[in-house]
Amino acid sequence: KEDQFVDELISKMTLEEKIGQMNQYTSHWEMTGPAPKNASSQKRLEEIKSGGVGSMLNVVGAKATYEAQKLAVENSRLGIPLIFAYDVIHGFKTMAPIPLAEACAWDPEISKLSSQLAAREASASGLHWTFAPMMDVGRDARWGRVMEGCGEDPYLASVLSVARVKGFQGDDLSQNYTMAACAKHFAAYAFVEAGREYNTVDIGTFTLHNIALPPFKAVADEGVSTFMNAFNIINGTPATASPYLQRDLLKGEWNFPGYVVSDWGSIEEIVTHGAAEDLKHAAELAVKAGSDMDMESSAYLPYLKELVEEGKVDEALIDDAARRILKIKYRLGLFEDPYRYSNEEREKEIVYSKESREQARKIARHSMVLLKNDDQLLPLSKNTKSIAVIGPLADDKNSPLGSWRAQAIKNSAVSLLEGIQKAVGSSTNIKYAKGCDLALGDRNFLDELVYAKADATEMAKAVAVAQKSDLVIMALGEDCFQSGEGRSQTDIRLKGVQMELYNKIRKLNKKIVVVLMNGRPVAIPEIAESADAILETWFAGTEAGNAIADVLFGDFNPSGKLTTSFPYATGQCPIYYNHMNTGRPTATGNVFWSHYTDAPNEALYPFGYGLSYTEFEYAKPSTDKEIYAMNESVKLRVKVKNTGKFTGEEVVQLYIQDPAATYARPVKELKAFQKISFKAGEEKEIEFSLNQSDLGYYSPEGKFLFEAGTYHLFVGTNSREVQKLSVKFND
Ligand code: IFM
Repeated sequence: KEDQFVDELISKMTLEEKIGQMNQYTSHWEMTGPAPKNASSQKRLEEIKSGGVGSMLNVVGAKATYEAQKLAVENSRLGIPLIFAYDVIHGFKTMAPIPLAEACAWDPEISKLSSQLAAREASASGLHWTFAPMMDVGRDARWGRVMEGCGEDPYLASVLSVARVKGFQGDDLSQNYTMAACAKHFAAYAFVEAGREYNTVDIGTFTLHNIALPPFKAVADEGVSTFMNAFNIINGTPATASPYLQRDLLKGEWNFPGYVVSDWGSIEEIVTHGAAEDLKHAAELAVKAGSDMDMESSAYLPYLKELVEEGKVDEALIDDAARRILKIKYRLGLFEDPYRYSNEEREKEIVYSKESREQARKIARHSMVLLKNDDQLLPLSKNTKSIAVIGPLADDKNSPLGSWRAQAIKNSAVSLLEGIQKAVGSSTNIKYAKGCDLALGDRNFLDELVYAKADATEMAKAVAVAQKSDLVIMALGEDCFQSGEGRSQTDIRLKGVQMELYNKIRKLNKKIVVVLMNGRPVAIPEIAESADAILETWFAGTEAGNAIADVLFGDFNPSGKLTTSFPYATGQCPIYYNHMNTGRPTATGNVFWSHYTDAPNEALYPFGYGLSYTEFEYAKPSTDKEIYAMNESVKLRVKVKNTGKFTGEEVVQLYIQDPAATYARPVKELKAFQKISFKAGEEKEIEFSLNQSDLGYYSPEGKFLFEAGTYHLFVGTNSREVQKLSVKFND
C-alpha cells in the first residue's frame, strides 16, 4: 500500500516538486506571526507555498506547526505535508539526563524510557522527527559532543542506541506519541583530530568498521527511519560527499530503506573542505553520494534541476531520494492527516506533566555513578545535624538541564540545594554558600563561555559555612554549555577557580562529598585522592536535585557504571579501555616501554566502573567446556552474591580478547552484560552465551571474520577488575 501510494504520488510530481521534498529549512522567522520582514524569509515562505520545501526544522509547538503545515498543504499544487524536525536529544520540555549520563545506567529499558518520554512530549508539540540518537563512539573527552553519545564502547553504544530508537519510534510511527528517529553522525565524527570540533578525521578502515560503524549498523537493522551524515572529512572525503558510506555501505550492503539528511550546511561545506568547486558542484557530489535531504545549504533547490537537465545527475537519483522521504511521511500518517500531531489540548496535557517529571527523576537516579565512598560515608543520614552545601553548581538551576535542551525553560531544574532541603526537611541545618562562580554572564547555547575569577569574599563565606558544619557537600564540574556542539577543550580539569575553592575547604579537615556535574569526563586526580566520597551526577535534567538527594540520602542505591574512561590528565586523551596492545606494554627496567613519564597509562576510573552502597562478590566463573567447534556457542556461568547490607543492582560485565588473530585485536572488548538486582545476602547465577558474531570482527576491508584459536574471557564488575578464563575454537 505504502509503495503503491508513494509511486503514484511520484508519478504525478514534477522534477521541481521532487527536489522540493529534498529541501529542508530552519524557521528563521515567526511562522505564525506577521509576514516575514526580510526578502530572504519572504522567498522561503513562497517556496513552502509552491512545494519547494519538504521539511522544516525548529518550528515547534502545536500551534506553530499547524500554521506552517497549512502553508504547505493548502497552497502547494499536490498539498504534500511538511515533516517537522527538531533536536530532541534528551527530553523536550521535561529534561532527562544527558545521553552520556543515561548510558551509565547500562539499562536498555532506561534508555528506551528516556526516548519515549522525549517523543511523547515532542510529538504532542507537533514534531514528527528527532535528530537523535547520536551514536558516535566517543573516545576523546576533549570533544564536547561526547555528552550526546553512549561513551567509548561500540557494543554498548549499539545496544543502547537500538533501545533509544525503539523508544522514539515505538512499533508504529503513525501513533501520535512516536516520532521518526535519526542515526547520527554518519560517520566517525567523534574521531576529529585532537578532539577539535569539525576537524579532520583520518582513521583506518579497521577502526571504522570495528568501532565507528557497529552502532549505525545495529540501528539500521532495527529500522531507524533516517540517518544524518557528518560534518567531517573522513580519509580525504567529506562524509556528506562519501558514496562509499552512503550508497555502497548504508543503502547498498545494509539495505537501508530510509533517507539521509545532511548536517546543517554540510553540503555547502564540501566547498570549504576543498572537495568541490562551488555550491552547484557540491550539490552534485552530495546527491550522487546519497545525501537525500539538504539541511540549510540551499544547494539542492537552486541547482539539482539544472544538474539533471545538463545530464550530470540522473533523475532516478532524485526519484529515489523523494521516494524515501515520502515513505517516512506516509508511515507517520501525514497523508491521512497532516495535522495529527498538532493538537494544542494534547500538548497542554502531556508536556511537562507530573508523569514526565516522575520518569525524568527515575532515569536520573539510574544515571548516577558513585566513584568513591570511603568508610561508607554515603548514604548520609537525614538526621545529620548540619550540612554545608557549597560550590558554583550547588544552587544552579540551569546547568543540570545540560546542552541540547530543546524547549526546557531556563533555570527550571531542581537544584542540588533544593533537592537536599526537600529531602531532609527541618531535621538538618543546611547552610549554603556558592564560594565562586564558574562562568560569567547569561550563558546561552550560542555563546562562548568566560570563566570566573576568584572573589575573596565569596570564598571566605564558603569557608566559614563549611567550618560550622558537620559535613560538606561540594557541587563542582562544568557549566552546561561547556560541553555539546562547538565545545572542544584542550584541558579537561575543572575550570575557573573551583580547585582553589576545593583546596580551601579541604584544609578544614571536614568530611567532603563531591557531587560532580559535567558533560564529559573530567580530570580530577586531586579530588579522587582527597575527597571522602564522589558522586558523578552528570547533567541530570529537570529533576536533578531531587534525584541526587535520593542517592545521597539512600532512597536510591546507585548502580550506574561509567561508559567512558576518566583520565588522570588531559594528555592521556584519547583514552579507552579497548585499546590495542603495544609491542612494549610493560615496564622493562629502563624507559624504553610504552608509557608517559608524568602520568599513568591507565585511567583514573576505568570504563565499566561504579560503586554501590552494597558489595558484590564474584565466584570463579566457568564455561560449559574448553574446546568448541566453530558453530557452537560458549556458555559461561558465574555466581554473584550481594554480601552487603542493602538491596542493590550490579552490572555483570563480560569481555573477550582474541590474543592471536589475523589482525591484532584489542586487549579487551565488551561483548555482553546483565544488570541484575540482588537483595542483601542474595546470590544468583548469571549465564552468558557467546557465539560467532560476538567473537568475530571486521577486517580492514569490512569483511566479517571469525577465526579458530584461543579466546580469553573476562568477567567482572568493571573493565579492570575481572577474572580471566580461556576457551578454544577448533576448525
Ligand atoms: O542535529 C544537529 C546536528 O547534530 C549538528 N548540527 C545541527 C543539527 C540540527 O540542529
